[in-house]
Order: sequence, then C-alpha cells, then structure tokens
Amino acid sequence: MKRIAVLTSGGDGPALNATIRAVTRQGIQQGVEVYGVRWGYRGLVNDEMSLLTSRDVGGLMGRGGTFLGTARCPEFKQLQVRQTALRTLNQHGVEGLVVIGGNGSLAGALALHDMGFPTIGIPASIDNDVDGTDLAVGVDTTVNTILEAIDRIKDTASSHQRAFLIEVMGRNCGYLALAGGLAGGAELILVPEAEGPSMEKIAATVVDAYVRGKHHCILVIAEGWRPGTHAVETYLKEHQATLGFEVRVTILGYLQRGGSPSAADRLLATRMGSFAAQRLLDGTSGQMVALRGNKLALCPLAEAVQQLRPLDLSLLQLSDVMD
Ligand code: ADP
Ligand code: F6P
Repeated sequence: MKRIAVLTSGGDGPALNATIRAVTRQGIQQGVEVYGVRWGYRGLVNDEMSLLTSRDVGGLMGRGGTFLGTARCPEFKQLQVRQTALRTLNQHGVEGLVVIGGNGSLAGALALHDMGFPTIGIPASIDNDVDGTDLAVGVDTTVNTILEAIDRIKDTASSHQRAFLIEVMGRNCGYLALAGGLAGGAELILVPEAEGPSMEKIAATVVDAYVRGKHHCILVIAEGWRPGTHAVETYLKEHQATLGFEVRVTILGYLQRGGSPSAADRLLATRMGSFAAQRLLDGTSGQMVALRGNKLALCPLAEAVQQLRPLDLSLLQLSDVMD
C-alpha cells in the first residue's frame, strides 16, 4: 500500500484527535501517505479528503472533538452510495481505510470490507457499547467527567440535604451510569439493561438514606432507562413530604462528550491508532482493534457489530453493597 485514509464517524467523543494522530504518524513512519477524510462517510461520498502531514496532527493530543469533523450519513447504508465512496477512494489512490467510531460506523467499515475494500475499525464510543473490546476510546474521559459532576453535585446536595437525580448519556447502554455511579458512590443506579425497582422502592431508597443520617442521596440514571428520569422526579416530588430530602434534577447531556482526554484515553488512542495502521498495512481487513485484558487484539467487525456489548450486571449488585 502507498496511501491509506482515516475518518471519524458517528457520535463524537474524547480522544478522537489523539487516535487520528496515532494512525497518521504510524502510517507516515511506515512510509505511506495518510489522507484525512472530513465529516465521516459523507466526506467519502462528497470527495472531501486531503493529505495529512505529521505537523497537521501536532498539538492535537489534548484537544476534544475531532478536527476532521464527524457526521451521520444514513444514505451510506445504500450500496450505490458506498460505490460512489469507493470510486472517490480509488480516484485518490487510497488503498485502505481506518474508521474510528461506534457500532454504526463500524458496520459501515464492515460494509466496505465486504465490497472488497481493505478496512479496519477502531472502537470509539463514550457509551462503551461496542462488543468485543473491554474499552472503547473516549470512555475513560467521559466516566471521569461524570465523576467530577457527581462530586460537585454531592457538595451542594449535602449542603442542602437534597436528593439528586443525575441523568447521564447512554441511550441503549448503562455503562456510563454504572461506572460513574459506582465510582461516585451513588445510592442508586438505574440502567436500561436491568428492570429498575418500582417507584415505591426508589422512594424507599431515598427515605432510607435520610433515616440513616446521610446528608445527600444520589441517583444516577442512564438516559435510556425507562420509565425515565422525569417519571422518577414526578413521583418523588409528589411524595416530597415523606422523603426527608428535597429533590433536584441535573441532566449532564452533551458536556459528557467534549473536553480534553484523560491520560488513559490518550494512551489507548495512541496504542489503538498505531496498531490499526500497522495491521492495515500488514494486509488485515474486516477487523476491529480490541482491548482485552490490557492487550491489543483483533476482533472481526462482523462479530463486533452483531450485538451491543453486554453490561456486567454484577457491578450493580456491588453498588447495592456499597450503599
Ligand atoms: P456510531 O458510529 O456512533 O454508532 P451511528 O450509529 O449514527 O453512530 O452510525 C454512524 C454512521 O455509520 C451512519 O450515519 C452511517 O453513515 C454509517 N452506518 C451505520 N450503519 C451502517 C450500515 N449498516 N451500513 C453502512 N453504513 C452504516
Ligand atoms: O455517543 C452516544 C450517545 O452519547 C448516546 O448516549 C446518546 O443518546 C447519543 O449519543 C446522542 O447523540 P446525538 O444527539 O448526536 O444523536
């Protein structure tokens, strides 16, 4: 191979720039040209790509977001649209592609591989919902962001003797709620993968914390948990008089996506980016870089995208013990 390309696709997250940097520098070091594709798969379709130099990716390690931009491009699921993308890649003499993104983006990478184009994926999803890898790029930073928020909220909650419902991201996956809640010492964690307690039981948890002399009660709720944060808020507020604590709600929202990556994420991004470029240049295709027990491995994209990464529900029980 003489020329490869790299793109970021789907939802953004921390350490995408650090990953692009690693792919680029590893490629250059091995004597190939590396093209950066703008705006995910849309950039392949619309021919928005250019050569990256080592300097182009300098100073990016600590910067949030993705300097290449990312996008959702639903039409990429159509064969004809992907054929246009392959034509663009061929016109530029690009012979292999590194895709950095979540489940959908990795499904796109698999589709290109299935059409005969050499492709390798790097899991990057703050939700940590990509199967086949212990960790995706961006997760560690996001858990730390959530933890900082919980710590700050605890300060004000304790000062006023309040119960807080803190909603974190995770439309289909409760990893962020579980990891953030456990690390932040939450009294209750609600995730989409487990049927939560009844409203009566949730209220009883709040009362119990009050009776046991706690100065706060923190409930961490994944956005995908049903019946949802608002339903809990409504129920608790209706029963305010019996709770002991006043109830407040904070939805962390998109602040969880941005920010400078943690040391652990920068390290993971650098390792995965370098590994992906090396394997692509070795002739590997249709695989995703995976972290397993702190070692890098390859996982077939076809396996990785088959299901969402299952949540370790034993950690929910651990959180009950720590309550
Ligand atoms: P994420 O990668 O963060 O999971 P999405 O699920 O939105 O985000 O997927 C990102 C993009 O990946 C989509 O907008 C589309 O361009 C592409 N994609 C998703 N699923 C497929 C698929 N089955 N085939 C081809 N491309 C896909
Ligand atoms: O990156 C995944 C995620 O953060 C989900 O947890 C969340 O539901 C979703 O992205 C929202 O992203 P958008 O508004 O960009 O679709």
